[in-house]
Amino acid sequence: MGDEKLLERLRELKRERNAVVLAHNYQRPEVQDAADFTGDSLGLSQQAARTAAGVILFCGVHFMAETAAIICPDKSVLIPDPNAGCPMANMVTPRELAEMKGRHPNAVVVTYVNSSAAVKAMSDVCCTSANAVKVVASVPRDREVLFVPDQSLGDYVAKQLGRPLILWPGYCPTHHHILAKDVRELKARHPDALFVCHPECTADVIALADHVASTSGMVKWCHETTAKQIIVGTELGLLHRLRKDSPDKAFIEASPLADCPNMKLNTLEKMVWSLEDMAYQVTVPPEVAAPARRAIERMLEIK
Ligand code: 13P
Ligand code: SF4
Repeated sequence: MGDEKLLERLRELKRERNAVVLAHNYQRPEVQDAADFTGDSLGLSQQAARTAAGVILFCGVHFMAETAAIICPDKSVLIPDPNAGCPMANMVTPRELAEMKGRHPNAVVVTYVNSSAAVKAMSDVCCTSANAVKVVASVPRDREVLFVPDQSLGDYVAKQLGRPLILWPGYCPTHHHILAKDVRELKARHPDALFVCHPECTADVIALADHVASTSGMVKWCHETTAKQIIVGTELGLLHRLRKDSPDKAFIEASPLADCPNMKLNTLEKMVWSLEDMAYQVTVPPEVAAPARRAIERMLEIK
């Protein structure tokens, strides 16, 4: 089937199933274009919370769909490809976190949403890249904070707040492909360009940035800046969203290697199959969902 036929079938199935399609900013261009909403992890979980649809077709990676399933226990949450995981989320297991908590019994556990439901369930509060600084700032200064699992985001937050955090040694392999030496070379080649990056980048890359933000924060900043050339330090899928949103600007990828293979597993065909077969359903057992929901809700309450 060609893309037009697939899109027509998708529209039919969405009506039949009363489904909404949410897509992360890193999805393939055609998947982003077929979605009702595109956004960052925070924006998509807020959309999931407020949708009136009975079915959420979540085009992103597993932890994002799982977050939607936790927030919306009365809805069916589907993911087009069950293998779309996040390697960083797999860098912390409940057993490892229990051991670490045992070593820091008084620490407040702040967990990045790029984590499993079981790890969220053991956490005090969640955060995304869009609100990590605010979430950590909401923890009283005299309390220790254990930040899980992204050491790069945690290090960025610690520097922003001038406050030491206990960092879990997880990282995003995709963002760590972006190298400071490549960014420096690009800056020398494009002296008028500004550099924007995601806080999952390494500290030496972040140090070169004119602005650091979540994926949707990057879209907003690029739209508002007067700069006409922007070097982009994040996963390559964002380039589609940026070019669509700011067609008058030139976007330069910081690294051609910043490709998240998991994010690219979802396709138009798989979206159609998913709604046809109502597969793959993402569910979270109630005893895990309840404490995980509390940690997510605490995050959503922080303004
Ligand atoms: P955002 O929440 O900024 O969209 O990032 C999610 C992610 O997985 C980044 O790699
Ligand atoms: Fe996970 Fe990195 Fe892919 Fe985001 S880009 S989903 S953090 S592996």
